[in-house]
Amino acid sequence: MMTNETNNQTNLKAIVMSGMRSTGSLHLGHYMGVLKNWVLLQHQHTCYFMVADWHALTTKYDDTAGIPNYRIETVLDWLAAGLDPEKCVIYIQSQIPEIAELHLLLSMMIPVKWLETDPTLKDMITLKKAGEAGAGEELNYGLLGYPVLQTADILTVGGSLVPVGKDQLAHLEISRDIARRFNHVVGQSVFHEPRPLLTETSLLLGLDGRKMSKSYNNTVFLKESEDETWLKVKTAITDANRLRKTDAGNPEACVAVFPWYQIFADKTEQATVAEECRAGTRGCMDCKKQLAERVNETMKPLRERRKLFEADLPAVDRILASGKEKAQHQAQQTLQQVRSVLNLN
Ligand code: TRP
Ligand code: SF4
Repeated sequence: MMTNETNNQTNLKAIVMSGMRSTGSLHLGHYMGVLKNWVLLQHQHTCYFMVADWHALTTKYDDTAGIPNYRIETVLDWLAAGLDPEKCVIYIQSQIPEIAELHLLLSMMIPVKWLETDPTLKDMITLKKAGEAGAGEELNYGLLGYPVLQTADILTVGGSLVPVGKDQLAHLEISRDIARRFNHVVGQSVFHEPRPLLTETSLLLGLDGRKMSKSYNNTVFLKESEDETWLKVKTAITDANRLRKTDAGNPEACVAVFPWYQIFADKTEQATVAEECRAGTRGCMDCKKQLAERVNETMKPLRERRKLFEADLPAVDRILASGKEKAQHQAQQTLQQVRSVLNLN
C-alpha cells in the first residue's frame, strides 16, 4: 500500500477524500463553501465523496425514518452541483462495513483524552442542546468517537488530502494523530497522515447574518424554486438604520443582502449597488429583488440538473452501486493490510 515515499510525492498522486453528514437538503452555503470546490477537485485528483449516514446517527439516532430520504437528497444535491460519477467516486458510508471495522480497530489505540478535548465535539453538544438533537443531552460513545469514524472514512480509501472547512480542522488534526499512532504501534508505515485542503471558499452567511443553518431557518436550499428563493431573500436583514428608501444606506452595515451580492454578483454590480445604497437612490426591496434574480441565475443550471436526476432515480442507484464497488475495492485492500499487521488474518 502507500508508504511515506508516495506520501512525499506531489499532490498529483494525492487521493482526495471528503464527506458530509446526510441530514437533509443542502443549502447555498454548502454549495458555495464546499461543493463548488469538490467539483473543481474531481478534475484534478482521484476523489472519494462519501455520504456520512452513520455520522448523521451521532445526533439523530432515535429518528432513523428519514435516513433513506436524507441520503438520496444529499446525493441529488451533489449531482446537481456538478459532481460527475465518471470523475469521482460517490458512495454511502453504511454500505462499506470495512469502515466500521477500521473504526473499531483504531479505537483500541486512541486515548480518550484526544477526543474529549475536541472543540468540534463541544460545538456539536451545544447544537444538540439548541434542539438539533435526537433524544437526551448526554454525550454518547458514538459522538465521542465521531473523529475516529471520520478517520476511518479517510484511511479506508487511502485518503491523503481532505477538503474541509475550518470547523473541521480539529478533527483532521486528530486524524493525523491517529494515523501516526497506528503506524507507530505496528511499526510500519501503513497510513498517510491526511492533510486538510483549505481552499479559499466563500463563506455565505444566513439571511439573518448568522451562520447559515437549517436550524436557524435562514437558508435557501439548492433545490428551492425561483419563487421560494425570492420569498426567502425578501426576509433578509439589511441595514437596520435605514428606514426610508431615500435614507443614505451603508452596505458595510447591511447584514445579509450586500454580503450576498459579494458572492453572487460581479464586481461592477457590487460597486453599483454600494454606490446607490450610499446615495439613497436604491430601495432595499428592489435591492433584494435584484439579488434574488442573481441567485436564481447562478442556481439555474444546478436546479435543472437536479430535476433530470430526480426524474431518473434508478440512474442514481446505479451511480451509488458503482461508487460502492469502487470504494469497497479500495477498503478491502486497506483492511487486509491492517488485519495482517495486527495479526488478525
Ligand atoms: N464531519 C464532516 C462534517 O460534518 C463529515 C465527514 C464525515 C467527513 N466523514 C468525513 C469529512 C471524512 C471529511 C472526511 O462535515
Ligand atoms: Fe442593503 Fe441594498 Fe438596502 Fe443597501 S440598499 S442596505 S445594500 S439591501
